[in-house]
Amino acid sequence: MSYKKKDKFIINGGNKLYGTITVQTSKNATLPIMSASLLTTDIVKIKSCPDILDVQNMIKILKKLGANVKLENCDCIIDSSKLKDICVDYKLCKTMRSSIFLLGSILARCKSASLAMPGGCNIGKRPIDIHINAFKRLGVKVVELNDFIFFNADSAKAGHIRLKIPSVGATENIVQFASTLKGKTEIFNAAREPEVVDLCNFLKKMGAKIYGAGTSKITIFGVDRLKGVEYKPITDRIVMGTLLVATAICGGSIQICGANVNQNKKLIEILSRMGCQINIKNGIINLSRDYSLKSIKTLSTGYYPKFPTDLQSMLLVLSCIVNDITIINEKVFENRFLIVNELKKMGAKIDIINNHTVRVNGVKNLVANKVKALDLRGGASLVLAGLVAKGNTVVENVHLIDRGYCHLEDMLKSLGADIKRI
Ligand code: EPZ
Repeated sequence: MSYKKKDKFIINGGNKLYGTITVQTSKNATLPIMSASLLTTDIVKIKSCPDILDVQNMIKILKKLGANVKLENCDCIIDSSKLKDICVDYKLCKTMRSSIFLLGSILARCKSASLAMPGGCNIGKRPIDIHINAFKRLGVKVVELNDFIFFNADSAKAGHIRLKIPSVGATENIVQFASTLKGKTEIFNAAREPEVVDLCNFLKKMGAKIYGAGTSKITIFGVDRLKGVEYKPITDRIVMGTLLVATAICGGSIQICGANVNQNKKLIEILSRMGCQINIKNGIINLSRDYSLKSIKTLSTGYYPKFPTDLQSMLLVLSCIVNDITIINEKVFENRFLIVNELKKMGAKIDIINNHTVRVNGVKNLVANKVKALDLRGGASLVLAGLVAKGNTVVENVHLIDRGYCHLEDMLKSLGADIKRI
């Protein structure tokens, strides 16, 4: 997985998008599945891993823990039979928030684990209190010291946990940990995201006994051991959503193959209401946008199956070019409007009401400018804004976009966009 050092995109806006594209494997399914591979001493093969920075960082973390990890084409082969460490690498833990769910697998395997307090990121403080309280409910001892947290599971017992927020990461941590914890563990108010379901499907293939994945109550009966498997995670619904919104913004007509349309129901409903023509047949989704768009008036994000927070920035950009007012409520994270000031440099008219609500007053055209990606999904949304802005837009810090998109510029170029990495 070679990564380019060039950290900018230059986009000459105005092209419509046409063509057929296959969506990459999901980042948010692949990462917890890579973590769960530590639950067996057998070899695990994760197929079609996305070529993204977060997967590269997770490979580095697993190697530093003593696992043998190799990539054959895009298949990631993990042999953790000689795991030798229980402490997640400090620097990598700070740079990648999702290293937190290694807790569940390391604790299950080694009975102790330690990691640096994961860094917050630009979209929010990203506390881990729900993770810590859930582990404590199962009898795990937790000690916080300076910037590190130490966990010990010698006296852990199965039990039931109610999450105050249906946290994806906390659900994934407990599901991993309880898979080999003797007895019955129940998680109430569990996250229902497709990526949580995919992790549970991976664990069940390894021999775990998990019921209710995808509902708010997940029940796990711990088993003695889990076996190595080959597994292909689901496709990335956020990347799929990004491409659909890109076409809604630019106009044109694209086909997306191999994606699970059900995982983007809310987005598809909204884009149809806004005036896109959408056809779904044999798992292929076709979206065309030939006429002017209508406003959806208000959009609120929420926990799955509500509208996903990870697609909020893209809908914000789309609303910027709809000739009407749109109110956007971000209900999951407390700082997911970083992109607003960058969009204003491109002529967008957006008022921040508070850190959960913005009011968009659509304009006829966005204007090219030099802008900065400040977080993963906001960065991808600035690219979408550049696709439709008149002139040459430069997006900086595209390494943030590379965290979750497998060469976004190549995907868009294949659909007719005038974009290149410089
Ligand atoms: C996962 O993050 C995803 N990341 C995020 O995608 C996604 O936005 C998020 O779920 C919500 O769907 C991965 O799967 C790697 P949460 P996670 O715990 O697990 C608060 C992307 O762009 N909270 O469900 O960290 C938290 O602050 C990323 O791909 C606590 O208060 O999200 C947030 O407000 C961004 N205490 C809310 O819950 C905790 O202990 C939901 O967070 C944990 C979370």
